[in-house]
Amino acid sequence: MIVYPRIIAHRCGGALAPENTLAGLEAAARLGCRAVEFDVMLTADGVPILMHDETLERTTRCRGCVAEQTLTQIRACDAGVPTLAEAMAVCEHHKLWTNIELKPSSGLEEETGTVVGVWLAQYWNGQGVISSFSEKSALAARRHLPDEHFALLYEALPADWQASRARLGAVVVHLDAAQVDHAVTEALAGLPWACYTVNDRTAADQLFASGCAAVFTDRPDLLLPAFA
Ligand code: G3P
Ligand code: MG
Repeated sequence: MIVYPRIIAHRCGGALAPENTLAGLEAAARLGCRAVEFDVMLTADGVPILMHDETLERTTRCRGCVAEQTLTQIRACDAGVPTLAEAMAVCEHHKLWTNIELKPSSGLEEETGTVVGVWLAQYWNGQGVISSFSEKSALAARRHLPDEHFALLYEALPADWQASRARLGAVVVHLDAAQVDHAVTEALAGLPWACYTVNDRTAADQLFASGCAAVFTDRPDLLLPAFA
């Protein structure tokens, strides 16, 4: 049975630092967070890096598609983009439980799951959970990680979630908090579930009261003192 820390810093450190950066992980650790989530995507040369969008312009000083630029090219214009290896080293140093979300560029679903799964099988201590909106990616990673914890990741719970759960061997469900209602909590009874992205205490309070195991938040500074 997987045990979830209740407060998970979203995209490394939430709003405490730029998203998906080592600075975010350090900020989360400083604040006393025990758990973080981040997004992982492949560069053109197949290196897993922390990145949410398929294009670079929102979060870096670069432009263009992540999948079309090598790590060296991306780093040349923004040194703050970490590799998965660098991020995991910081997580291990601070003993941070980690949700590795596979975020494949379109068309690279299988390859992303495979590359990350192979890397994690070799280097990860297994303290956390793997998830993806792409079932193809998650299943590709699963082939290399038979014993690790996997989560189903959805916006809203689909009708066929039980079949996906069986295919992936998932032990938990991650959902958009805005899509959770009574029918969903009933459907999930007996299985741990967590919600993103929850940035205020009242919403977190209500979710925990309805059985939510954990929330992903951009404001761990607000939620940790109340719920940790
Ligand atoms: O994995 C939970 C959450 O991070 C999913 O949404 O778009 O922030 O990756 P997103
Ligand atoms: Mg994410």
